[in-house]
Amino acid sequence: MKKENKTAKRIFGIVGSPRKKGNTHILVSTILDGAKEEGATTEILFLGDLNIRECDGCHICWKGKQCSKKDDMNKLYPKIIQSNVIIFGTPVYWYGPTALMKCFIDRFVYFNCQENREKIRGKSAVVAVPFEEETPKTASLLIKFFEKSLQYLEMNLIAKILVPGVSRKGDILKKEDRLAEGYTLGRRLARYHKD
Ligand SMILES: Cc1cc2nc3c(=O)[nH]c(=O)nc-3n(C[C@H](O)[C@H](O)[C@H](O)COP(=O)(O)O)c2cc1C
Repeated sequence: MKKENKTAKRIFGIVGSPRKKGNTHILVSTILDGAKEEGATTEILFLGDLNIRECDGCHICWKGKQCSKKDDMNKLYPKIIQSNVIIFGTPVYWYGPTALMKCFIDRFVYFNCQENREKIRGKSAVVAVPFEEETPKTASLLIKFFEKSLQYLEMNLIAKILVPGVSRKGDILKKEDRLAEGYTLGRRLARYHKD
């Protein structure tokens, strides 16, 4: 039986594109492959496979109770809390994140009370973003959204990886330099990330 490495970093990759085997999926997988190479424990998750409803601000989660939505997000909170690094992968959709990713982030309201804040404070985050247009400015609003939201949650946004100029499924495979950057980033996350 394989022994569990208790010191291994836990790196959780979130794919916010509804498209399987698409550019976000490939990018997030590549980062995780690099992390695995250095001994990290990794998990990838497709938001499109899950039922995650919108937050309606009832704030029952601030009273020590489970979210009133009773959906898949309740299974994700423990995974988020146990991870050392979260990779938020989303393509640019109309200059913002996908609706799947926005819905997921909205549910981080759970962490916006004193009791739950310590479960996320100081946790590392990476943002991984492919998009069609050639200019990096295309992702400016989306990056600002993550910077402000993660800062508000007292998380550390330690890396952003943007991949412009990819449109069709798998186009990112031609961007070998960006994928190499992602792989190296994954290795770095596993090696140097401190708890
Ligand atoms: C609904 C929708 C909106 C999009 N909006 C933009 C956009 O504003 N700017 C852009 O450069 N690309 C935009 N794109 C293109 C995607 O960002 C691009 O195809 C990306 O590589 C998709 O990643 P995926 O393969 O992981 O789904 C949009 C695509 C869709 C389907």
